[in-house]
Amino acid sequence: MKLLFAFAGLLALAAANQPVTSKVVCYYDSKSYVREAQQARMLPLDLDPALSFCTHLVYGYAGVQPDTYKMVPLNENLDVDRTHANYRAITNFKTKYPGLKVLLSVGGDVDLEDAQKYNLLLESPQARTAFVNSGVLLADQHGFDGIDLAWQFPKFKPKKIRSTWGSIWHGIKKTFGTTPVDEKEAEHREGFTALVREMKQALSVKPNMQLAITVLPNVNASVYFDVPAIVNLVDIVNIGAYDYYTPERNPKEADYTAPLYTPQNRNPELNADAAVAYWLQHGTPSSKIVLGVATYGRTWKLDGDSEISGVPPIHTDGPGEAGPYTKIEGILSYPEICAKLINPNHQKGMKPYLRKVTDPSKRFDVGLTKEEDLSHLFGTYAYRLPDDGEGGLWVSYEDPDTAGQKASFVKSKNLGGISIVDLSLDDFRGLCTGDKYPILRAAKYRL
Ligand SMILES: *[C@@H]1O[C@H](CO)[C@@H](O)[C@H](O)[C@H]1NC(C)=O
Repeated sequence: MKLLFAFAGLLALAAANQPVTSKVVCYYDSKSYVREAQQARMLPLDLDPALSFCTHLVYGYAGVQPDTYKMVPLNENLDVDRTHANYRAITNFKTKYPGLKVLLSVGGDVDLEDAQKYNLLLESPQARTAFVNSGVLLADQHGFDGIDLAWQFPKFKPKKIRSTWGSIWHGIKKTFGTTPVDEKEAEHREGFTALVREMKQALSVKPNMQLAITVLPNVNASVYFDVPAIVNLVDIVNIGAYDYYTPERNPKEADYTAPLYTPQNRNPELNADAAVAYWLQHGTPSSKIVLGVATYGRTWKLDGDSEISGVPPIHTDGPGEAGPYTKIEGILSYPEICAKLINPNHQKGMKPYLRKVTDPSKRFDVGLTKEEDLSHLFGTYAYRLPDDGEGGLWVSYEDPDTAGQKASFVKSKNLGGISIVDLSLDDFRGLCTGDKYPILRAAKYRL
């Protein structure tokens, strides 16, 4: 008998020690299919080398049809037409990767026609029913394993860093001059809770359908997400903890776009640790929380008024110029950034390369402790001053090192995993070092 107990105890121990597989949620932005530059155009086939690292693949993005409030493909041609049928091409990867879950995501800050519809939908039970029924049908018809609600809530207003400690005048203006972003925020919060409940109910009629939610950057979670009411209904909470600063929202001032912790003199709410803490404190099981890691950098122009030290927060003059492959102002993909970094093999002065400044945690951890000191992890940036030839540029970005450090953070907090946003802006062709998907790989190996 004693032996039996001992044996049972051993079994329980073995079960407890079974490593729980961390989630690696890979976002695929289908817009990358239509990029002009061949180097940036990504076909479903290009996903293949990534998929052995991913537990989930999220197809971005479906949208909401104004007026009917149905969930619809944003690009019918590409998504569901007979010639392309990307929805099917993507879900068919499950034959090769049987463990892979493929979700269809809606919103994601790319469904920009008639943006008010996301609010209006939440206010109307009929609209929610139309959305839920069409969404479940769309996902089921094309072989998806569930739906991700990357809901386009109103974003909080951008704030200047300097004004928070700069002058009294700014302080007074701040107290009296703010108009609420969303006058019906309580109604939208309740509407979203109802939407999650209704979506969960409709999905549970089908076997093994998952429900995920994505908190998009600069959406105030404490306003819109009633955590105790929704957390038992969802499988994944993906936290978009990046784009805290962007050249569109903050044209005149650049800063770390995705810090893990609060840099000095910054708003203590705007970093990954604080975002995760909100969900944990309100009762989310840590295993459901997935931390979003961006694969691109945000870029700003530096001008004659920018501090020559390069240290953020730094004065800037709007978005940096578009990259050669992605061709969008203010954004560079990881391979576009790595091509611009100073390389000791290149002759100095030949091209206006960027000077890279790695995170201070890198400097402190040497020799002090074996553990990395993540508390200084704000991110990597790179810059060149205006007199360097092609004009000044400042970039805050994630690289394989910092993505790996974020994975270590996730592991140390026992969180569910990480998400990569998105695969098409990681180096999917292996242009930097020959390795394909270096950011995805670095994060995966540290989980
Ligand atoms: C988010 O909303 C809460 C109130 O619910 C407020 O205290 C907080 O300052 C807001 N955060 C941001 C970044 O606007």
